[in-house]
Amino acid sequence: MVAASAGSVAAATSRTVPAYGNLTNKAGKLALLGGEPVRKKKPLPDWPYCDDKIVEAVTKATRSTKWCRIQGGANAVVTLEKEFAKLTGAKHCVATGSGTQALHTCVEALGIGPGDEVITSPYTDPGTIAAILSARALPVLADLDPASYQLDPDDVERKINENTRALMPVHMMGQPCDLDRIMALAKKHNLKVIEDAAQAHLAEHRGRKLGTIGDLGCFSFQSSKVLACGEGGAVVGNNDDLMDKCYTVHNHGTSRRGLTEMIGPKYRMNEFEAAVLLAQWSGLHERHTRRNENAKYLTSRLKDIPCLTPQKLYDGMNAGSWYLYAMSYHKEHLNGIDRATFLKALAAEGVSLSPYIKQGLHREPWIDTILNMKVYKTMYSAERLRRYRDECQCPRCDQVCAEMAMIWASGPLLASRQDMVEIADAIEKVYVNRDQLKPA
Ligand SMILES: Cc1ncc(COP(=O)(O)O)c(C=O)c1O
Repeated sequence: MVAASAGSVAAATSRTVPAYGNLTNKAGKLALLGGEPVRKKKPLPDWPYCDDKIVEAVTKATRSTKWCRIQGGANAVVTLEKEFAKLTGAKHCVATGSGTQALHTCVEALGIGPGDEVITSPYTDPGTIAAILSARALPVLADLDPASYQLDPDDVERKINENTRALMPVHMMGQPCDLDRIMALAKKHNLKVIEDAAQAHLAEHRGRKLGTIGDLGCFSFQSSKVLACGEGGAVVGNNDDLMDKCYTVHNHGTSRRGLTEMIGPKYRMNEFEAAVLLAQWSGLHERHTRRNENAKYLTSRLKDIPCLTPQKLYDGMNAGSWYLYAMSYHKEHLNGIDRATFLKALAAEGVSLSPYIKQGLHREPWIDTILNMKVYKTMYSAERLRRYRDECQCPRCDQVCAEMAMIWASGPLLASRQDMVEIADAIEKVYVNRDQLKPA
């Protein structure tokens, strides 16, 4: 990288700014090259947060010596289930020890197992496919819409076959996937839908909360999520029988009637986790609104900066959870400068963006592992497993991994408007002064 002369910066600036007319004049020496940073050591709000309410709730749960839901009494887990069902508008909720456990509970409750296939995304947390693999079913990976980072319904439809039992769409970054089309596909092919809403608390599609639109919906309360307790999860749903099965599965197969009726691991949430969550209830909507407002502001500023395109949102999206504020980096609009150099230049201006997931799940070694397992060789034909290997190509997911630049948003999007102004200013400054950078 070299610093350009003041004259060439001015020339570059005057050459480019009119083409994107709304940019304010951010010409100046990049901080990476010794200039003044836009933001000076101003950390954004940390996440998760802790306040006295949370500490008191845990102390109270500890002193009660009722640490487990089956001990009865004033029960935080049962209260959490009622409150979370109310929050989402679902009829029922079953709290679990993680989002992965919630998803696996749903797979088992729907009777999905060896020989069955579930279509999901390669661009997600490994917990999504772990839930399918734990039931020894086959996770079939469909490719993405590279602008929204969500499942591409056309590729989903191509991958449906006679063994497909369910779709597991992921609401990536906390924004709705292409739900209108995914739900239409499920109806057309008579498939169940398990929404992976692990990142999508309080997000809405056409007036309904995510997680309540498919047959079952799952959430994570892992530390980074907008509602967090370290590790935790929940299943929500409206079908009485199915949700009763979810309770039974998550309770080592033992039903509310006290009979051991099904195959199930022990996935019960403990009282401390529920206490931490309930202590965050007040302010939940206020924080959600603040994230949505700040996200809207950032998006309005990015429309004039062609090297970063915010996540595409589908029609019907009323509100996102904004767990992550995600953008695609287009190096062709930054003189071919690679993403790592761009992120370094931005970090020097005081703004940290992350590339997030390094590679899609279609590139991880679990595929070799399962193709060599007796249960998969027995339950799926050799021809199916050969085709499966070929299907595990997701070039648009590779593109997303290569272009992603995102803000961990649970805490940072709670910052002030001035902080958002500075984030956008820093991005704009690097863009306007891009001629000071050269490819690594
Ligand atoms: C999209 C998605 N699915 C599933 C999970 C798994 O949830 P957990 O980590 O609570 O098991 C996560 C968690 O990061 C996630 O982001």
